[in-house]
Amino acid sequence: MKTTEIRIIVLEYQNISELPENDQFLLAEARKITSMAYAPYSGFHVGAAVLLGNGTVVTGNNQENSAYPSGLCAERVALFYANANYPDSEVKTIAISAAKDGVLVKEPVKPCGGCRQVLAEVEVRFETPIRIILDGQNSIIVLNGVESLLPLSFSKKDL
Ligand code: THU
Repeated sequence: MKTTEIRIIVLEYQNISELPENDQFLLAEARKITSMAYAPYSGFHVGAAVLLGNGTVVTGNNQENSAYPSGLCAERVALFYANANYPDSEVKTIAISAAKDGVLVKEPVKPCGGCRQVLAEVEVRFETPIRIILDGQNSIIVLNGVESLLPLSFSKKDL
Protein backbone atom coordinates (compact mmCIF):
# COMPACT_ATOMS: atom_id res chain seq x y z
CA MET A 1 0.00 0.00 0.00
CA LYS A 2 1.19 3.48 -0.86
CA THR A 3 -0.16 6.76 0.48
CA THR A 4 -0.16 9.84 -1.73
CA GLU A 5 -0.88 13.33 -0.51
CA ILE A 6 -2.74 15.75 -2.78
CA ARG A 7 -2.08 19.38 -1.90
CA ILE A 8 -3.95 22.45 -2.99
CA ILE A 9 -2.75 26.03 -2.93
CA VAL A 10 -5.30 28.54 -1.66
CA LEU A 11 -4.57 32.24 -2.11
CA GLU A 12 -6.42 34.20 0.53
CA TYR A 13 -7.24 37.90 0.39
CA GLN A 14 -8.90 39.99 3.11
CA ASN A 15 -10.57 42.46 0.81
CA ILE A 16 -11.56 42.89 -2.85
CA SER A 17 -9.16 45.86 -3.13
CA GLU A 18 -6.20 43.47 -2.58
CA LEU A 19 -7.01 41.45 -5.70
CA PRO A 20 -5.31 42.10 -9.05
CA GLU A 21 -7.27 44.74 -10.99
CA ASN A 22 -8.83 42.32 -13.52
CA ASP A 23 -10.05 40.10 -10.70
CA GLN A 24 -11.52 43.07 -8.85
CA PHE A 25 -13.57 43.93 -11.91
CA LEU A 26 -14.74 40.34 -12.41
CA LEU A 27 -15.72 39.91 -8.77
CA ALA A 28 -17.59 43.22 -8.83
CA GLU A 29 -19.56 41.87 -11.82
CA ALA A 30 -20.37 38.68 -9.90
CA ARG A 31 -21.54 40.72 -6.91
CA LYS A 32 -23.71 42.89 -9.16
CA ILE A 33 -25.52 39.99 -10.85
CA THR A 34 -26.12 38.25 -7.50
CA SER A 35 -28.91 40.68 -6.65
CA MET A 36 -30.84 39.67 -9.78
CA ALA A 37 -30.91 35.93 -9.00
CA TYR A 38 -34.29 34.22 -9.01
CA ALA A 39 -34.15 32.42 -5.69
CA PRO A 40 -37.56 32.70 -4.00
CA TYR A 41 -37.30 29.24 -2.41
CA SER A 42 -33.87 29.36 -0.79
CA GLY A 43 -33.34 33.10 -0.43
CA PHE A 44 -29.72 32.31 -1.31
CA HIS A 45 -28.65 34.56 -4.16
CA VAL A 46 -25.57 33.54 -6.13
CA GLY A 47 -23.79 35.39 -8.95
CA ALA A 48 -21.04 34.21 -11.28
CA ALA A 49 -18.91 36.20 -13.71
CA VAL A 50 -16.81 34.42 -16.31
CA LEU A 51 -13.84 35.96 -18.13
CA LEU A 52 -13.23 34.43 -21.57
CA GLY A 53 -10.01 34.27 -23.54
CA ASN A 54 -11.41 36.76 -26.04
CA GLY A 55 -11.86 39.30 -23.22
CA THR A 56 -15.64 38.95 -23.00
CA VAL A 57 -17.23 38.83 -19.54
CA VAL A 58 -20.39 36.76 -19.18
CA THR A 59 -22.49 36.69 -16.04
CA GLY A 60 -25.21 34.49 -14.58
CA ASN A 61 -27.13 33.86 -11.39
CA ASN A 62 -29.10 31.01 -9.86
CA GLN A 63 -32.52 30.31 -11.33
CA GLU A 64 -34.78 28.34 -9.03
CA ASN A 65 -37.98 26.47 -9.81
CA SER A 66 -40.99 25.29 -7.78
CA ALA A 67 -39.98 21.83 -9.01
CA TYR A 68 -36.65 22.18 -7.19
CA PRO A 69 -34.36 19.99 -9.37
CA SER A 70 -35.35 22.00 -12.45
CA GLY A 71 -33.46 25.03 -11.14
CA LEU A 72 -29.84 25.76 -11.96
CA CYS A 73 -26.85 27.20 -10.11
CA ALA A 74 -25.31 30.55 -11.05
CA GLU A 75 -22.04 28.96 -12.16
CA ARG A 76 -23.73 26.68 -14.67
CA VAL A 77 -26.01 29.43 -15.98
CA ALA A 78 -22.93 31.57 -16.70
CA LEU A 79 -20.72 28.75 -18.05
CA PHE A 80 -23.40 27.30 -20.32
CA TYR A 81 -24.24 30.75 -21.67
CA ALA A 82 -20.53 31.37 -22.32
CA ASN A 83 -20.06 28.06 -24.11
CA ALA A 84 -23.31 28.46 -26.07
CA ASN A 85 -22.39 31.90 -27.37
CA TYR A 86 -18.58 31.72 -27.53
CA PRO A 87 -17.84 28.05 -28.25
CA ASP A 88 -14.31 28.86 -29.41
CA SER A 89 -13.28 30.91 -26.40
CA GLU A 90 -11.69 29.33 -23.36
CA VAL A 91 -12.73 30.25 -19.84
CA LYS A 92 -9.89 32.00 -18.04
CA THR A 93 -11.43 32.95 -14.71
CA ILE A 94 -14.72 32.57 -12.87
CA ALA A 95 -15.69 34.75 -9.91
CA ILE A 96 -18.51 33.60 -7.64
CA SER A 97 -20.35 35.62 -5.02
CA ALA A 98 -23.36 34.82 -2.84
CA ALA A 99 -25.70 36.69 -0.52
CA LYS A 100 -28.17 35.51 2.07
CA ASP A 101 -30.97 38.01 2.74
CA GLY A 102 -29.05 40.56 0.69
CA VAL A 103 -25.85 40.26 2.74
CA LEU A 104 -22.60 38.81 1.34
CA VAL A 105 -21.92 35.41 2.93
CA LYS A 106 -19.30 35.38 5.69
CA GLU A 107 -17.15 32.50 4.42
CA PRO A 108 -16.12 32.11 0.76
CA VAL A 109 -18.98 30.55 -1.23
CA LYS A 110 -18.32 26.93 -2.19
CA PRO A 111 -19.54 25.66 -5.58
CA CYS A 112 -21.66 22.50 -5.46
CA GLY A 113 -20.40 19.16 -6.79
CA GLY A 114 -22.40 19.44 -10.02
CA CYS A 115 -20.84 22.82 -10.81
CA ARG A 116 -17.37 21.49 -10.03
CA GLN A 117 -17.93 18.74 -12.59
CA VAL A 118 -19.05 21.28 -15.20
CA LEU A 119 -16.01 23.45 -14.45
CA ALA A 120 -13.83 20.37 -14.94
CA GLU A 121 -15.46 19.71 -18.32
CA VAL A 122 -14.83 23.27 -19.50
CA GLU A 123 -11.22 23.11 -18.37
CA VAL A 124 -10.57 19.86 -20.23
CA ARG A 125 -12.52 21.06 -23.29
CA PHE A 126 -10.32 24.13 -23.77
CA GLU A 127 -7.17 22.67 -22.22
CA THR A 128 -6.81 25.84 -20.16
CA PRO A 129 -6.74 26.00 -16.35
CA ILE A 130 -9.60 28.03 -14.90
CA ARG A 131 -8.83 30.42 -12.05
CA ILE A 132 -11.59 30.43 -9.47
CA ILE A 133 -12.40 33.36 -7.19
CA LEU A 134 -14.69 32.62 -4.24
CA ASP A 135 -16.17 35.61 -2.45
CA GLY A 136 -16.88 36.05 1.26
CA GLN A 137 -16.86 38.76 3.94
CA ASN A 138 -14.11 37.15 6.00
CA SER A 139 -11.92 36.29 3.04
CA ILE A 140 -11.78 35.96 -0.72
CA ILE A 141 -9.98 32.89 -1.97
CA VAL A 142 -8.41 32.24 -5.34
CA LEU A 143 -7.66 28.79 -6.73
CA ASN A 144 -5.51 28.17 -9.79
CA GLY A 145 -7.38 25.40 -11.56
CA VAL A 146 -10.35 23.10 -11.04
CA GLU A 147 -8.07 20.37 -9.69
CA SER A 148 -8.06 22.38 -6.46
CA LEU A 149 -11.84 22.04 -6.17
CA LEU A 150 -12.27 18.59 -7.65
CA PRO A 151 -9.23 16.34 -7.36
CA LEU A 152 -9.35 12.88 -8.90
CA SER A 153 -12.07 14.06 -11.25
CA PHE A 154 -13.75 12.03 -13.97
CA SER A 155 -13.32 13.42 -17.49
CA LYS A 156 -13.33 12.38 -21.13
CA LYS A 157 -9.78 11.18 -20.58
CA ASP A 158 -11.31 8.31 -18.57
CA LEU A 159 -13.76 7.25 -21.26
N1 THU B 1 -26.31 27.63 -5.64
C1 THU B 1 -25.60 28.21 -6.64
O1 THU B 1 -26.16 28.89 -7.52
N2 THU B 1 -24.26 28.01 -6.66
C2 THU B 1 -23.57 27.39 -5.68
O2 THU B 1 -22.36 27.31 -5.78
C3 THU B 1 -24.26 26.81 -4.53
C4 THU B 1 -25.72 26.80 -4.60
C5 THU B 1 -27.75 27.89 -5.59
C6 THU B 1 -28.63 26.73 -5.90
C7 THU B 1 -29.91 27.13 -5.20
O3 THU B 1 -30.63 28.00 -6.05
C8 THU B 1 -29.42 27.92 -4.01
O4 THU B 1 -28.10 28.31 -4.29
C9 THU B 1 -29.46 27.15 -2.69
O5 THU B 1 -28.80 25.94 -2.81
